[in-house]
Amino acid sequence: MKDMIPMNTQLLPANDESLSLAARLLADGQLVAFPTETVYGLGANALDAQAVLGIFAAKGRPGDNPLIVHIHDRRQLADICEVTPDALRLMDAFWPGPLTIILPRKPGVPNEVTANLDTVAVRMPSHPVAQALLRACDLPIAAPSANRSGKPSPTAARHVFDDMDGRIPLIIDGGESDVGLESTVISLAGDKPCILRPGGITQAMLESVLGPVELAGSILRPLEKGEKALSPGMMYKHYSPDGQVTLIEGAEADVVEALRRLYAHAAGEGHRACVMCFTEHMDALRDCAPHDIGSKTDASEVAHRLFNTLRLLDEEKMDVIFSEVVPPEGVGLAVMNRLGRAAAFRTVQAKEITS
Ligand code: TXA
Ligand code: MG
Repeated sequence: MKDMIPMNTQLLPANDESLSLAARLLADGQLVAFPTETVYGLGANALDAQAVLGIFAAKGRPGDNPLIVHIHDRRQLADICEVTPDALRLMDAFWPGPLTIILPRKPGVPNEVTANLDTVAVRMPSHPVAQALLRACDLPIAAPSANRSGKPSPTAARHVFDDMDGRIPLIIDGGESDVGLESTVISLAGDKPCILRPGGITQAMLESVLGPVELAGSILRPLEKGEKALSPGMMYKHYSPDGQVTLIEGAEADVVEALRRLYAHAAGEGHRACVMCFTEHMDALRDCAPHDIGSKTDASEVAHRLFNTLRLLDEEKMDVIFSEVVPPEGVGLAVMNRLGRAAAFRTVQAKEITS
């Protein structure tokens, strides 16, 4: 990747003035990071191939990983994709909101956006600041998550600044992201609707509108040798903190005891070790450098906190991390998809540690 010439990065609160500056920059082919309800996005005019290439350079993102096109009005899709009857149903049910739909593309979209695929990903975000920005520039905006490639997606403007300072001209601060994980990605371009990336809009929610919806095979496991990724983003190492994460599975009491023993062993060997545990276990694990991932009864809270916690672990230079897991159902499936990748799918059964 070519070195970038460092630039001055402004971090401004969302208001009329900063949004009109953002709209001017986007129209001028420059990059702007902005809040959405899922995570922060790094936007460029989706119709400007040079501007889109700037996204790949700023993130250090491989050019064969396509981008999502963000809109504020369905009429913007006319030159971008085919809108199938199923797509319309999903848009009626879940837009604006954390759902990305893969559809057959139209020729107006630059190949830089779609990585030369014959499909394109589209999403209408619900965050008021994202909507205001999309309206102000009235352009379709290509935007991946605003992290450097390989880092957890940013859920606060500060995370974007940590990754992008000197690389982009403007970050709009709209507070903490609500969902905290990236949008659900569903493909309607194949024979059957298929979830490529789980998120806040769950399989059950999608099935209530479409009937049966498949799950891509590699959501809870690594891609097998020679297996083709349905979504190119799945090929890459993702969401990894610098430290080594291990997931602990099993009955609640066993997991707490296993976390205690694993922590003690790692700390005893001189590691900067910690545990990621449910709020309910913070007290029992108070001597194990516990990081609260939210209540065991609320997967949405775990989703909301996950990326912030992973970034914190890097700031604290933790090198050995043991984490509890949530059941891979509903929003929990999205949590485990991200947490599994953060751990490179390294999992230990609590019973093996405690017995
Ligand atoms: O919540 C989100 O979706 C955030 C916010 C900013 O909207 N964006 C986001 O973008 O997460 P990104 O680029 O980090 O993830 C997009 C994912 C990638 O895994 C990419 O491979 C996949 O969507 N994708 C994009 N276009 C695709 C296509 N035509 N076919 C299959 N997968 C596609
Ligand atoms: Mg991303």
